[in-house]
Amino acid sequence: MKKENAIGVFDSGIGGLTVVKALMERLPTESIYYFGDTARVPYGIKSKDTINRYAMEIAKFLLRKNVKILIIACNTMSSVAFEMVQQISSVPVLEVIDAGARKAIRESRSRVIGIIGTPATINSNAYARKIHSYDPNARVVSQACPLFVPLVEEGWLDHPVTRLTAQEYLRPLLAENIDTLVLGCTHYPLLKPLLREIVGPQVVLVDSAVAMAERVAGLLEEKGLANNASLPVEYRYYVTDVPLRFHTIAERFLGRGLGNIELINLPL
Ligand code: DGL
Repeated sequence: MKKENAIGVFDSGIGGLTVVKALMERLPTESIYYFGDTARVPYGIKSKDTINRYAMEIAKFLLRKNVKILIIACNTMSSVAFEMVQQISSVPVLEVIDAGARKAIRESRSRVIGIIGTPATINSNAYARKIHSYDPNARVVSQACPLFVPLVEEGWLDHPVTRLTAQEYLRPLLAENIDTLVLGCTHYPLLKPLLREIVGPQVVLVDSAVAMAERVAGLLEEKGLANNASLPVEYRYYVTDVPLRFHTIAERFLGRGLGNIELINLPL
């Protein structure tokens, strides 16, 4: 495996770009290949079997591109398909749940932690299990937010409909006096300003993207895979569809042009 090979990152849509952004900032000498399954998003309301099958297809696609590490930048796939992907992967695989759970434990003082995520992530109970493995006394309150992903993919980041939806979803969590809220879906950091207004300044918002970038940096060093050579790096974006607003939302979010974007036809 060559150090110059890219880091492979994947998600069901644009949400995983939150992780890509953190990686670009933390590891500017690393190339990144991103796969967003924009034709089949959302995954979070699909069955485990379907999520597993899609995750395996994408992982194999990126492995064929010779990535040196695979990052599942999607909580839904992380909570359902991590073990399966790990079994077929010849390179290290990282997922986002562990990073978010650890960060929540570090941040929470009251030990009452709220989790929001897709129905698949919340039903898997992956966050509660992880958090309890680190702190059995923590109280975890979860809420599935199935409408958030389509709202984000639509670009309605600060829209009255999104605000009302968020108020409705967060009400039960706020009633439990959470002091930390885990954004358990990589799409949700795009809603951060709106969520911040609703939860108020006291509640810590945990976004696992930054924690993930730290873990990747550590792992690459440890495995001798860090690319210390100077630029240029290569950023590639593979998507299965280019919805109307994809470019605008993705570029606004990344704070840079997407450049090399390639449409991949299904089946992979
Ligand atoms: N961004 C994803 C997650 O972290 C998936 C959302 C979806 O496709 O439903 O869960």
